[in-house]
Amino acid sequence: MREDPKRIGALKPSGQGLARMMAAQVDQSLDGKILELGPGTGSITDALLEAGIPQDRLILLEMGSEFCSLLEDRFPDTKIVQGDAFDLKKFSSEHLDAPLAAIVSGLPLFNHESARRRQLIHDGLDLLDPEGAFIQFTYRAKSPVAYDDQAFRLSSTRRIWWNLFPAKVWIYRPLPVTE
Ligand SMILES: C[S@@+](CC[C@H](N)C(=O)[O-])C[C@H]1O[C@@H](n2cnc3c(N)ncnc32)[C@H](O)[C@@H]1O
Repeated sequence: MREDPKRIGALKPSGQGLARMMAAQVDQSLDGKILELGPGTGSITDALLEAGIPQDRLILLEMGSEFCSLLEDRFPDTKIVQGDAFDLKKFSSEHLDAPLAAIVSGLPLFNHESARRRQLIHDGLDLLDPEGAFIQFTYRAKSPVAYDDQAFRLSSTRRIWWNLFPAKVWIYRPLPVTE
């Protein structure tokens, strides 16, 4: 596949351990669809399906046209949108009519400047159910968005050492609604 290496940001698809750790963060009891950003060849998508999420509850938003074709072959009952995950407002106006249960992101966020990373997380939080989660992995041991503006709740998993490269999963949730 002739895809842009900077956009892909990884040597290999995520390993099964990391993909399962991402999928385990999704609360399937919530209403709403699950949006995956940057699914690539579908390694995290596989783990979401393995966790029991039906294909038609997923939406995959991928920029690479060759990846989109591959995903359409692999997941015929899943909605696949070719587009820019950093333009979530446009995506939501065209494709969403209800809050999402989760956003699961494999985007290489550290290839982008911090203001852009922050905007993506904030735009994503706006699309979630109040108990929903924006789930992101990184190879670095720090959150791609500083926890300094207290605009979200943040938690993380242990480091997954057996992935190439070792990775960590970050979970951003909306703040509780106050009266
Ligand atoms: C590191 S790969 C991860 C692939 C897969 N999720 C995994 O974990 O193996 C990053 C993926 O994000 C996609 N991507 C990068 N920037 C994007 C953007 N702005 N909008 C949508 N997809 C993007 C790339 O094409 C690639 O498929």
